[in-house]
This record gives sequence, C-alpha cells and structure tokens, in this order.
Amino acid sequence: MSIQQNLNTLRHPVSNTPEKSPFNAGETLAQQHEKLTVLLLGSGGRECALAWKISLSPCLEKLYIAPGNGGTGAYGENVGISPLDFNAIADFAAEKKVDMIVVGNEDPLVAGIFDYFEGKEGAPVVVGPSKAGAALEGSKDFAKQFMVRHSIPTARYQSFTAETVEEGCKFLETLKAPYVLKADGLAAGKGVLIIDSLDEAKSSLREMLGGMFGKSSATVVIEEFLKGIECSVFVLTDGNGGYRILPVAKDYKRIGEGDTGPNTGGMGAVSPVVFADKEFMRKVEERIILPTVNGLIAEGITYRGFIFLGLIEVEGEPMVIEYNVRMGDPETEVVMLRIASDLLPLLDAAGRGNLGDMPLAEDPRFATTVMVVSGGYPGSYSKGEIITGAEDAVNAILFHAGTSRTGDGELLTSGGRVIACSAYGKDIDEALANSYAAADTVNFEGKYMRRDIGLDLKKLS
Ligand code: AMP
Ligand code: GLY
Repeated sequence: MSIQQNLNTLRHPVSNTPEKSPFNAGETLAQQHEKLTVLLLGSGGRECALAWKISLSPCLEKLYIAPGNGGTGAYGENVGISPLDFNAIADFAAEKKVDMIVVGNEDPLVAGIFDYFEGKEGAPVVVGPSKAGAALEGSKDFAKQFMVRHSIPTARYQSFTAETVEEGCKFLETLKAPYVLKADGLAAGKGVLIIDSLDEAKSSLREMLGGMFGKSSATVVIEEFLKGIECSVFVLTDGNGGYRILPVAKDYKRIGEGDTGPNTGGMGAVSPVVFADKEFMRKVEERIILPTVNGLIAEGITYRGFIFLGLIEVEGEPMVIEYNVRMGDPETEVVMLRIASDLLPLLDAAGRGNLGDMPLAEDPRFATTVMVVSGGYPGSYSKGEIITGAEDAVNAILFHAGTSRTGDGELLTSGGRVIACSAYGKDIDEALANSYAAADTVNFEGKYMRRDIGLDLKKLS
C-alpha cells in the first residue's frame, strides 16, 4: 500500500466494525511507520497542554493549532482559522493533508464539526462526539434525561420553560436551600446559579426564562443541591465500547481562596485526587462510565472522543454534576503531565473506533497547575499587558492561555486566564512548590493567583 493510500485509509473512521480495521490497535503508529499531520482546534491553556503532549509523539509529522495562542507556537504552527469556520478548516485540512482534527473546545462539537466531516471522501478523522453526542454538554436537559434513562446517579431535577414557570416555582418549594438553576444550553460557564433564598430563586428562574442567557436559558433545569467534594474524571472512548480512563484531576473554580467569590473557568488543578481511590473509581466505572459509554451506543449516538464527567462525592458515593464533551481546563494542564503513554496513537485509535487493548499508562508523580490571571477577572480586566519572566521559570511547564505575541515576539496578555504554571513533584507539596515558584516568576500588571490550590486535598491525605 502506498503511503497515500495508507493515509487515506487512516482518514476513514472504521464505523462499528473494529475487526475490519487494517491496523492492529496494539501496535503504535510508529511501529506501523505512520506519521500523522494533526490540526488542533482552540486557543486556551487546555490546547497548549494538548499541543505539548501531541508534540512529544514520535508519530507526529506536523502539528497545526487553530488559532492557538502565544505559547502554542512552541509546539506547532499557529494558523489563523476560527474553530467554528468548518469550510475554512476543511480547505486547510485538504491543502495540508491533515489526518486528524483534535477539537479542544466544545463549541465546534456542539455545532456539529464531527458530522460535517463524517463520511466525506478523504476527510480527516475528527476526535470528538457527533452533534448528537455533544448534546450531553450542549443541553443540560438532554444530559439529565440521558442519565435518568441509564440509571446514572445524579441530582433529582425537573426542567421548565416560559410556559411552565409557575410549575417551576412550585417545584422550587419542594426543594431545600440552596437552589440550583441551570441554563439548558451553553452559557460560557456562567449558566449555573446557586441561590440561598427561595424568593430570589423564583425571581432568578423568571429572569432566566425571560432571556437572561439568551436562547440558552429558554429551558432551565432546576435540581437538588448536592453537598460534597468534586473531581473531574476523563474518559477517551472509541464509540465501540472501548474506553480508557485518564488520570483523575480536581479543579478550583472560584476566584477567591477558600472557594469564595464568583466562578471562573478554573484557577488551578491537581492530579491525582486522594479521595478518588480504587474503591471510588470502581463505583465510578460501574455506575457511571459503563452506562454512559454503553448508553451512547444503545441510543445510536456516535461518540469517538473525550467524555468529561464532573463528579461529586456524596458520602463516598459518586454522582454526576455535569457532562462535558471535551477535556477540562485547567485539568488538562495536569492530566497531560500524568499520561506516560504516547497520546497520539490513542487519539488516532479512538477516532477510528478501535482502541483495542492499547495501553494508557499513568505517570506516578503528582502534577499541579496554578493559573495566573488578569486583575479583575472573571469581571472586566485589561488586555495587552506586557508579560515578563515566562522564559525564566524552571522545574515547570508554562501552558499559555490568554497570551498573544506581537510581530517581534513580545508576549502580551490577551485574556482573563493568562498562563497555567504546571509542574511535577514526588508529592503534592513538591509539585505545588514548583508551580508557585514559576507563577511567582511570571509578571504583568495586575497579576493575580489563588494561593490555596490543592490545600483541601492535602488536608484529606
Ligand atoms: P456546572 O456548569 O453544571 O458544572 O456547574 C458549575 C458548578 O456548580 C459545579 O462545578 C458545582 O460546583 C456547582 N453545581 C452544579 N450543580 C450542582 C448541584 N446539583 N449541587 C451542588 N453544586 C452544584
Ligand atoms: N474546569 C472545568 C471545565 O473545563 O469545564
């Protein structure tokens, strides 16, 4: 078979017939003498960490990142294409002979990028769910119904629209404070309100249904509040029943120390997570991962990519807070450090529907990340501040998030979350010391970080 024919075969996902795959999933791509050209979509710290990990693969021919940021250029070539411009992505993929598209953020998945390329002659493999699968994140109501259909443990809930707002108020009266109100659709991480007073919850419900989050809150999910400690479990699935569980992480969502103040995209992360021990993970696999993976297949939903389970441990029992259809940010900035295996053959095998027995080995060390953010974030903040010290950090990997470079290479802030300072350690203390030393080295006007990343887990251990 010529290299071109080989690549063409590679580009065609093997749907539901893994035994027909010309590849032995146990063999790495390098053993198959294959090198892949990869296009990674997104521009955050998550994509920088994915780019770093993919760039280490001996199976990589060339990595492009669209649009990337001020840090991703160290691992591949940034290209100025929007992840939502599917026609431009298709033209670029054809021109550069891209074999695989790895989708970092949820928006292209919810908008149907998988379906756009699926079945097209010579199209790249898209690692991610179909549009139907992406509804696990794109519609909280769909996700809750899916969990109920497959008996997956989650908070009791009901969904309401403008027509049923009075029933919604009555449902709130049956619950205990605090009240959890969720916009059904994507709302840039801002669509969940947790409210202490019943009256305020009722008025917020009316506001949400009245368009507080535009179309995203035309339906609102109201659910029971769960008390416990959260963690993020990531699964890479091939849509044919094959899956691998990635290292477990915990993120820190609030802006203030001691988990206070408004929610952010995430201020730091740690992996592993002490309470996610063997017994807890056995329950997660049995009660949540298997019914999710098999439930998708049973419902005929194509899903060859990452499933992100936002879990909460309630008295030792795992429950699902939310599904996302991508990796977490900043969890990826620690999870990638803790994957010892070459990620690219795993992504390729998942995208082709044939994970087989390909191993995913974990690095035994601890990994932590501390996000340095712009002053004022998650509210308004300035952009274009000059960043210094990013090249001087030692014993850490700086995954850029909201950074850009001027024509002459000067590094500037361009977002709220600026750089994820990620590091290894033999224990959590050493990893945190390395992350914080790096975070202290980076400087720009208004820099802020939380100083308590991982402290809750240290108390548990
Ligand atoms: P979500 O966008 O669904 O992840 O919600 C954002 C955050 O709200 C979660 O990470 C939790 O901290 C919190 N949250 C969501 N649902 C619940 C719930 N039912 N009980 C307690 N906290 C919740
Ligand atoms: N860190 C949470 C998220 O990526 O949604």
